[in-house]
Amino acid sequence: MSTVLVSGVGALGGWALEFLARAPGVDRVVTVKRSPWSGPSWTTIAMLGSAIEGHTKRFEHHQVDLADESAMARLLAEVRPDAIVHSATAQSPRKLSGVPLDPGVRAEVRAATFGMWLPWHLWPATQLIRAIELAGIDTHVVNASFPDVVNVAIWKRFGHGPSTGAGNLEVCAARVLRYVMATTGRPAADIEVSLVGSHALLTRGTVVPHHFRLSIDGADATEQVDLTAALSTWPEVVNWHGDVPNSLYAGSAVKNALALLGTEPLATHVSAPMGLPGGYPAVIASGTVELRLPPGLDEAEAVAINDRAARFDGIERIEEDGTVVYTAESRAAMENLGYRCEAVEFDDLTRRRDELRDVYRRLTSEGRDA
Ligand SMILES: NC(=O)c1ccc[n+]([C@@H]2O[C@H](COP(=O)([O-])OP(=O)(O)OC[C@H]3O[C@@H](n4cnc5c(N)ncnc54)[C@H](OP(=O)(O)O)[C@@H]3O)[C@@H](O)[C@H]2O)c1
Repeated sequence: MSTVLVSGVGALGGWALEFLARAPGVDRVVTVKRSPWSGPSWTTIAMLGSAIEGHTKRFEHHQVDLADESAMARLLAEVRPDAIVHSATAQSPRKLSGVPLDPGVRAEVRAATFGMWLPWHLWPATQLIRAIELAGIDTHVVNASFPDVVNVAIWKRFGHGPSTGAGNLEVCAARVLRYVMATTGRPAADIEVSLVGSHALLTRGTVVPHHFRLSIDGADATEQVDLTAALSTWPEVVNWHGDVPNSLYAGSAVKNALALLGTEPLATHVSAPMGLPGGYPAVIASGTVELRLPPGLDEAEAVAINDRAARFDGIERIEEDGTVVYTAESRAAMENLGYRCEAVEFDDLTRRRDELRDVYRRLTSEGRDA
C-alpha cells in the first residue's frame, strides 16, 4: 500500500485528491497547499467521500509554501511519499479568462502563448524537485503543470525530474478512441490508437506536427479516420475553459501515479515521460515508463516531431542547461504588451515569476480602466 502526496490543491489538484480518495492501492493521501484557505476542507470532504466508498485511508493536510525549500524538504522526509501528483502553479491561466481585457491585448496574450505563463508553472515544479533533492528521498513525480516543457527543462537542469506529465496528449488519444468507437461501432478492445503529439495538438488541432496511427484488429486503419474531426468538432465543440475539464487532467495524473506504483503493465499515452518533450504512446509499470512507438517511427523521430510542435506553444528550443527559449512570434507578442523576455533561465526564475505578475497586474488594471 502506498502514500501519495498532492502538491497544489486547486482546480486540478482538487480532482486528483478526490480520485485518490476513491482509488484502491493508496492507503495514505497527503495534501500540500500554500494558503490557509480551503485545504483542510478539501481534504476532509475527500476523506468522507472515501469512507462512503468503504475505504479507511489516512488523510493529512499541510500548509507549506514551496518557496520554503527546507520546510518542504522536512515534510517530504517525514511523509516519504511513494508518488507525488504535482499541479501547483503561481497562477492558473484560467484566472485571466474572466478578467476584462481589451480584445487587442487578449489577442497578443494568446499569440505570446506560454511566454505569458511558463515561469509560473516552472518555478513551483523546480522548487519541488529541489526539495526532493534536499530530503534525499526516492519518489515518482507526476507533473501536470505544462509538463511538455516543464519536465524537459527540469530534467536538463537537474539530470532527473518528473517521471511523467499528465493530460494534454492523453486527452487527444481519448477523443480519438471514442471517435473511432462511435464511427465504426467497434469495441475499444479491437482498436489501437497511437499518437505522438504535444499540448498544442490539443489546443490547436492537426496543423501542429504529430504522428498518428490507428489499427483495428491489428490491421492499419489510419486512413479511415478523420483525425481533424476527432480532435475538433466531434462529438461537439468542447468548452475547454473553466473548471470542468480538470477532471480529465487530474484523472490522467492519478492514473499515471498509480501505474508507476503498480506492477501490472499499463499501455497508455503519457506527456513528457522521463524528460522527453510532448507526449507518446507508452507502457507504465513498476516505476518505469517505456515508449511504445508504432512500427516505422523511432524515438529520435518522435522527439523531433514534438520539438517542432513546441513552437506552436511559443517554445523555440530548450537548451542543454534547461534554459527555455521563446519563438520570435511569442517574443514579438510579449513586446507588444510591453514585456521583454527572450528566454527563461533557472538562475533567474524567481525574478521572471515576479516580473510576470507585475505585467499581469498592469494589463488587468488597464483592462478595468478602459
Ligand atoms: N496537463 C494538463 O492537461 C493541464 C490541463 C489544465 C491545467 N493544467 C495546469 O495545471 C496547473 C494547475 O492548474 P489549476 O487550475 O488547478 O490551478 P489553481 O486552481 O490555481 O491551483 C494551483 C494550486 O497551486 C498552489 N500553489 C501555488 N503556489 C504555491 C506555492 N508557492 N506553494 C504551494 N502551493 C502553491 C495553490 O495553492 P494556494 O491556493 O494556497 O495558493 C493552488 O492550490 C496549471 O499549471 C495549469 O496550467 C494542466
